[in-house]
Amino acid sequence: MEKSSGHLNLAQIAFWLNGKKMQFDIPPGITTLELLNDKLSMSGTKSSCNEGDCGACTVIIGQRKNGATSYQTVNSCLYPAFRLHGKHLITVEGISGKDELHPVQTALLDEHGTQCGFCTPGFVMSLLGLFLNNPKPGKADILAALEGNLCRCTGYDSIMKAANLLKKRIKDNADLLPSALRKVEKLLNKTNPPLLYKRVENTEGWETYKCYCPKSLSELWQNIVTCKKTGSYKFIAGGTDLMVLANIQHIHYANLIDLSQVSELDGIAIQNSELHIGGNVTLTELQHNKLVKKHFPLMITAIEQMASTQIRNTATLAGNIANASPVADGATTLLALQAKVVLASSRGDRTVELSKYYHAYKQTELKPEEVIRTVVLPLPSADKHWQGFLKSAKRKAVDISGVVSAVLISYKGNKITQAVISFGGVAPYPARALKTMTFLAGKTISGKLIEQAAHLAQSEFTPISDVRGQKDYRSVLIRNHLIRHLTCFLDAVKPQQGSML
Ligand SMILES: Cc1cc2nc3c(=O)[nH]c(=O)nc-3n(C[C@H](O)[C@H](O)[C@H](O)COP(=O)(O)OP(=O)(O)OC[C@H]3O[C@@H](n4cnc5c(N)ncnc54)[C@H](O)[C@@H]3O)c2cc1C
Ligand code: FES
Ligand code: FES
Repeated sequence: MEKSSGHLNLAQIAFWLNGKKMQFDIPPGITTLELLNDKLSMSGTKSSCNEGDCGACTVIIGQRKNGATSYQTVNSCLYPAFRLHGKHLITVEGISGKDELHPVQTALLDEHGTQCGFCTPGFVMSLLGLFLNNPKPGKADILAALEGNLCRCTGYDSIMKAANLLKKRIKDNADLLPSALRKVEKLLNKTNPPLLYKRVENTEGWETYKCYCPKSLSELWQNIVTCKKTGSYKFIAGGTDLMVLANIQHIHYANLIDLSQVSELDGIAIQNSELHIGGNVTLTELQHNKLVKKHFPLMITAIEQMASTQIRNTATLAGNIANASPVADGATTLLALQAKVVLASSRGDRTVELSKYYHAYKQTELKPEEVIRTVVLPLPSADKHWQGFLKSAKRKAVDISGVVSAVLISYKGNKITQAVISFGGVAPYPARALKTMTFLAGKTISGKLIEQAAHLAQSEFTPISDVRGQKDYRSVLIRNHLIRHLTCFLDAVKPQQGSML
């Protein structure tokens, strides 16, 4: 974090750390990892990449949400410490007894799942987070829980074996959360007082900014007015894009407004044949939602390939749209699903089609004083439809796409009635292949049609070269993605004939 002189606003936070109540005055810019390592001298939680990639800093956050207590893993390097206010922070130091290892640690030891040990606290917390939510995980669940943790020396086989050993050892109804930590649940019910600030001399040299945690939209509009008097402000939702910029590029704002507690941004519901997804809904909430699973399996496929469990536990779909990355997997998928966004401000709400939301690189319809209140998805029509999602990246997990694409095809027999095709990573923002969509409408699927459509899609975009891929490579991927999508569609509608390519 950059140093600054003058005054400093210290946020007064109260939270539970490994079962004990804590009260602290902290600079709001500090992350949970910095709080643990630098202020509390707790070195169990490790610092490595500082951008959510390695999982060494994984901790568990216990909080009340939707009337229940949830325990979720997060990357403490991306979790602002002011957000701990009213929550339970569980670290590797808090889970074992004085002379006794926690069952997760014993399983890792018994299966030789650790060598230098630097990554181990992160793996321990990820495994604990998994088993607290799913005592009988399958192989895919274990892999998903661990995909956000990197180990450079042990090898993942023995870590997987440790997870399986733990599964065998856990007796029905056994609680992996020590009782002293479980007791905090009763206290999490109590309403938290709002964050207060102390203004002090900036002797520690921290960046001086203030955070607001509105609980409603009306409070949010008031906070914006206050912030405008003191300088720039920025909304923070999951913080998985914003905190990377803060940690790596040292981009800070005079004021941060935390959206995560604004009640009007919560919830997933069907209204008037549309699925309404609140601006605060996290990728994990979407991934486990029955309505999303039933109506939008494409969304589930996309989310499963986005980031890691730790990131998905805090990252929002609205943040993915607002961040306006050209390679946003969520936004690209939503374009194919013909999403709309409801933008709210103190002047009221307005609805914008996502296909009209992006203007240029990082320029969108969203005004600084507007929030994405809801993402709206029309429920698929009674027509038969086929959905496809493809992501080309260097790794299968925790990697930003080089090229990503999503397709929604409505059809009757072999005839395409409508095809919606979107790409990320090939233009300054996620975009549809409009000419190809028009070309395919009303046509009967065949090998020749697929060739023509793939060629046309390739001609619609002029990708650029960057760290995630050269322009020629991306151009070939446009073609290959579309061939793959349409061939799978062809196979789905004509299974008896196989591919007609
Ligand atoms: C390790 C790692 C892996 C990742 N992998 C992927 C991946 O595979 N695919 C992918 O697409 N992305 C990936 N991301 C990027 C990121 O996780 C997503 O873009 C995520 O959806 C952002 O949501 P957030 O809530 O964390 O946004 P934040 O970081 O909180 O905010 C991002 C931007 O959106 C604005 N904003 C947030 N919510 C709103 C709102 N409701 N209204 C108005 N403005 C708002 C903020 O002001 C900010 O400008 C990854 C990030 C990391 C760190
Ligand atoms: S330090 Fe690597 S994910 Fe946090
Ligand atoms: S044990 Fe050394 S990095 Fe994993």
